[in-house]
Amino acid sequence: RFDVQLDKPAGKISPHMWGVFFEDINLGADGGIYAELVKNRSFEFDNPWMGWKKLENTAEGSLLIVNDVKRKGNARSLKVTKESASKMGLQNEGFRGMGVRQGADYEFSLLYKQHTAGLSLRVELLDENDARIGQATLALDNKPDWQSASVKFTAASTTAKAKLNVWIDGAGSAELDMLSLFPTETWKNRPKGLRKDMVQILADMKPGFIRFPGGCIVEGRDLANRFQWKKTVGPIEERELIINRWNTEFKNRLTPDYFQTFGLGFYEYFLLAEDIGAKAVPILNCGMACQFNTGEVVPLEELETYIQDALDLIEFANGATNTTWGKLRADMGHPEPFQLSMLGVGNENWGPQYIERLAAFKKVLNEKHPEIAIIASSGTDPEGERFDFLDQRLRGMQIDIIDEHYYRPPSWFLSGAARYDDYDRNGAKIFAGEYASHTTRPNGPGRSTWEAALSEAAFLTGLERNADVVTMASYAPLFGHVDGWQWSPDLIWVDNLNVYGTPSYQVQKLYSLNKGTDIIPIKRNQQNVVGQDSLYASSVYDEVNKELLIKFVNYNSKAIDATFQIDTKRKIATEGSKLTLANADLDVANSLEEPLKIKPQQAGIKLKGKSLTQTFAPYSFTVIKLPVK
Ligand code: AHR
Repeated sequence: RFDVQLDKPAGKISPHMWGVFFEDINLGADGGIYAELVKNRSFEFDNPWMGWKKLENTAEGSLLIVNDVKRKGNARSLKVTKESASKMGLQNEGFRGMGVRQGADYEFSLLYKQHTAGLSLRVELLDENDARIGQATLALDNKPDWQSASVKFTAASTTAKAKLNVWIDGAGSAELDMLSLFPTETWKNRPKGLRKDMVQILADMKPGFIRFPGGCIVEGRDLANRFQWKKTVGPIEERELIINRWNTEFKNRLTPDYFQTFGLGFYEYFLLAEDIGAKAVPILNCGMACQFNTGEVVPLEELETYIQDALDLIEFANGATNTTWGKLRADMGHPEPFQLSMLGVGNENWGPQYIERLAAFKKVLNEKHPEIAIIASSGTDPEGERFDFLDQRLRGMQIDIIDEHYYRPPSWFLSGAARYDDYDRNGAKIFAGEYASHTTRPNGPGRSTWEAALSEAAFLTGLERNADVVTMASYAPLFGHVDGWQWSPDLIWVDNLNVYGTPSYQVQKLYSLNKGTDIIPIKRNQQNVVGQDSLYASSVYDEVNKELLIKFVNYNSKAIDATFQIDTKRKIATEGSKLTLANADLDVANSLEEPLKIKPQQAGIKLKGKSLTQTFAPYSFTVIKLPVK
């Protein structure tokens, strides 16, 4: 028997409790949510021909990469010289192919300047068998200055592995750059926008926040390649790309073609957050490169630039339109402020160097922007000791929010359900900023199985019961591309055409959609329910929908009966409902072929007075909803 003390709420739940963690890892941004189909559109990858192949009649010197350092952020372009009307062209392979759909419209665009008049372009889409499935022609004006041109066409069939040919017709000479192909149907149909299905699956979770842009990419493999938000705003063609921190051998996966073009930059991140109703939570580099990589550290005397970046970001997000950065935001299309209220300083950084740099940021930020809460990192927890040590240091510094990361086996998640029960209620709040239950570590990449998800569901009852101190939580990483990932498990998997949520996604979504507003104590034998007989529970009240919500995990191979006694003077409706995720086989997973193998099943329930008895399936997670009058 479980006692649910509805009349004794034990604290408020943050409206931003359940969110998402976005990083350009596993082709999350370039090759993923950023809907650009052309890889290396500006020839700025280390090898300018990466992703491209020359087609017929490209004699020596006819297609040359040229470099004009005066062009901000994008020095290279393709110089075309053609003396006869013969066939000449180049082909782009896309990001593991290009996903195109029958009947959908695509827009090819480029920047160019024509030195000698006479050239025009013909673009065609080919399927995996080299059959043409779309084409268009584009005349080039005879103007010596850089200008843009675009043309739309419709794809005749669907394939995840299309490629793009760009044929150069006529005779003449020109420079071409930013050769680009986008579907016209994007999220909110923004030109050159985001992949609709990938944003939709996030929006479906109604996330309370979106943390961006990572992750280790915030830190970079070295400081020169750290994420610098200022280089990701303004005109797209001027955003200087860098090598992705995940362009590396990681867990035996090699992705040498992984660069960050920043078509998805900080403005677009803020817009995405706004679109899906999530609070924007940016994390900035604190003057330290990834400690799992070079671990380069900026001298304290030179930290000022990094701190200035933070101040300028606040101005970009919230400043008046007559300020330098506020004006840029307005010029980009968003005069209204983005309401930034939290800022992360450092990702998975630790040691005395971190504390020193964090203190320098904090001093200035607190002085100039007391309204901005600072999130500090306590890193990951490989040995289980770093957290406690750093947490104490950070608490001592009066940090507002501490970002804890845990990638641990299911057993850790089960026992971790009690992690915050005796936590200090004074001072810093906790942001469980990255977590995932890893079932097969260290012997190989983890699968996103039901075992992983159910152990997370149990752990999350602990976060929910302690939501007065744990105010934010997000699984990580968010996206994985089946043909180009570095890290697994991930919350959501995609290929070039499809997207599906793992069982962990289903768990996160159920928490997020049923988050409630008040913590309601739930006891078993007068104790918090943390794994006695492998049962885990939490309950909350939702004052908006006037519902009592009980989350219950049966981590047993047998079904069990449980009775909930609602202690309240209020009236409870005699009928409610429940949503259940269940599977007796812990090894099952969702997949592209069976995207909803694990999905919520809805059923009605009946109360007797204020008592509810239910049978819970083996290995199940249930959300019970009871209307309160
Ligand atoms: O989520 C993948 C990586 O895990 C993140 O980039 C990093 O913060 C953590 O180590």
